Amino acid sequence: MINRDELKDVLLTATREAGKIIKSNFNGIFKIDHKEGINNLVTEVDKLAEETIMAIIRGAYPGHSIIGEESGEFIKESEYQWIIDPIDGTVNFAHGIPLCCVSIGLLYQGSVTMGAVFNPVMDELFFAEKGKGATLNGEPIKVSSKNNFKTAFLVTGFPYKWPENTLEHPIKVFERMILEGLPIRRLGSAAIDLCWVACGRFDGFWEYNLSAWDVAAGYLIVLEAGGTITDFDGNIGTVFDKQTLATNGIIHKDMLGIIQKSGA
Ligand code: IPD
Ligand code: CA
Ligand code: CA
Repeated sequence: MINRDELKDVLLTATREAGKIIKSNFNGIFKIDHKEGINNLVTEVDKLAEETIMAIIRGAYPGHSIIGEESGEFIKESEYQWIIDPIDGTVNFAHGIPLCCVSIGLLYQGSVTMGAVFNPVMDELFFAEKGKGATLNGEPIKVSSKNNFKTAFLVTGFPYKWPENTLEHPIKVFERMILEGLPIRRLGSAAIDLCWVACGRFDGFWEYNLSAWDVAAGYLIVLEAGGTITDFDGNIGTVFDKQTLATNGIIHKDMLGIIQKSGA
C-alpha cells in the first residue's frame, strides 16, 4: 500500500493545478463543443484541465487505473483507480456562473478512499480521506442537524438526456417535492451539490443518472462529514450507481418516502 500522505499530495496537486486552469479561463474566450445532447457542453478548458490532471497522476503512479470524463478509461492491473471530472458544472463555467469545480476521487480496492472537489472561483477546496473526516479549506465540516423535513432545504439536478425507459420519473420526484412546499435549488454541479450537503448548506440532494466522475469525490466527502448516501431504494452502493440520494442522515427516510411515492 502506498503512503497516504504521498497520495494526498498528488491528489491535491492535480486538483489545484486544474483549479488554476479553470480560474484563469473563467469568463475568458474558449472553444465550446457539445457531446451527446446539444446542451451537454465540453470546452477546451475541460480538456486541458483533464490532460493536466492525468499527466500529474501518471507521472506519480504510471501503474494506476484512471477514468477521465473527457478521455475515457485507462484500466491497469491496480488496486487504485482515479476518477476525474475536470470541470463539473461545465454549462455554468461556459456562461460565467461561478458554480463549477474540479472533482477527483481515488478508489482503493473499489471504494473511495480520498476525494477532492475544488471550486477555484469561490476558492473552496473540499477534501476527505476515509476515516479521517472531511474539510473545507482545511477546516472540519459536518452535515446539517436539520430534523424537521418540512423545513428542509434541498438541491437536485437533471440529466441532459432523459433515459428512455424511465421517461417521467425524474420530474415526478421533483414535482412531489415541490408539492410538499419544499425549497429546492438546481445549481448545475453535482459535485458542488454533494459538498454543500457535506458542509450543511443543504440538508439533502438527489439526482438520477449521474456518472462516477460526478460523484466519486463528493460521495466520500458527504460520508466523512457524517451524511448518508444510498440509491432510491435506500441501499448503500458504489460511485458507479445511477441513483444518488445524499442527506444529513436524519431526513433520509423522509426523502426516500417522497421518492418512492413518486414511483421512481
Ligand atoms: C453535470 C453536472 C450537473 C448534472 C449533470 C452532470 P458536467 O456535469 O454535474 O449538475 O445535473 O447530470 O452531467 O457535464 O458539468 O460535468
Ligand atoms: Ca460532471
Ligand atoms: Ca465535466
